[in-house]
Amino acid sequence: MASVLPGPGKPVRVHHLAQAKEAGEKITMLTSYDAITAAIFDQAGMDMLLVGDSIGNVVLGHSSTLPVELDEMIVATRSVARSVKRAFVVADLPFGSYEAGPEQALASAVRLMKVGAHGVKLEGGQPREAAVRALTEAGIPVVGHLGFTPQSVNMLGGFRVQGRGNAAQALVRDAHALANAGAVALVLEMVPEPVAAQITDELDIPTIGIGAGARCDGQVLVWTDMAGMTSWSPRFAHQFGQVGQALSQAVHSYAHAVKTGAFPAAEHWFDQ
Ligand code: KIV
Repeated sequence: MASVLPGPGKPVRVHHLAQAKEAGEKITMLTSYDAITAAIFDQAGMDMLLVGDSIGNVVLGHSSTLPVELDEMIVATRSVARSVKRAFVVADLPFGSYEAGPEQALASAVRLMKVGAHGVKLEGGQPREAAVRALTEAGIPVVGHLGFTPQSVNMLGGFRVQGRGNAAQALVRDAHALANAGAVALVLEMVPEPVAAQITDELDIPTIGIGAGARCDGQVLVWTDMAGMTSWSPRFAHQFGQVGQALSQAVHSYAHAVKTGAFPAAEHWFDQ
């Protein structure tokens, strides 16, 4: 099947995401927080990169995304955007940077767009409608995030599947509210597969699943979970590599070479 998405080096834009859904072509998305991984993921063909506020857990050593500051997202987004040629770069609005209302959301989103984001993501359903509409009217593509929304972990009572039983229809209503407000795509996190499938079928905008089954229009994972950087990863992720082990092996080899005097060798130094 010929791809409706642009080839290497040609930028993926909002209308391509809609075309991919229309054509039944899956959309690929990974998190990235720095220039070096962004370049690797972009060249490997990721359609979208998410500068996620999971930077809090993955890079900054926090146990949740709540402490992440907008200024930290700005640094990460600028680094990712600088090295991407093709992928559509979405930056997370961190906790505390948009909940006060559309004006705060717009001020925060503008800062992320100025450093190179192509769109922003925010968490929550109907209460975020006005913010999504304001950003959309300002020309900022918005990706919604429903289901398990990590910034509300305290209210949700921990890391749990959302939208089970009676809660399913509220989730579907939230999805419609965000789409009607102008969201260009929707991340569905830890949602039962049939609920994610219903939302995917009913909406014109693409759904990007994480722990939401195979019927979503695309998939997103935190890159360190996908690449096997640590021995643990969530049940919904698959380790497509063992990068953590490979890195550890390289560090052991380097340390051994330095201790034994094998590194540096003559080819690594300058005679004059
Ligand atoms: O910040 C993040 O990594 C995310 C994904 C879990 C979708 O929001």
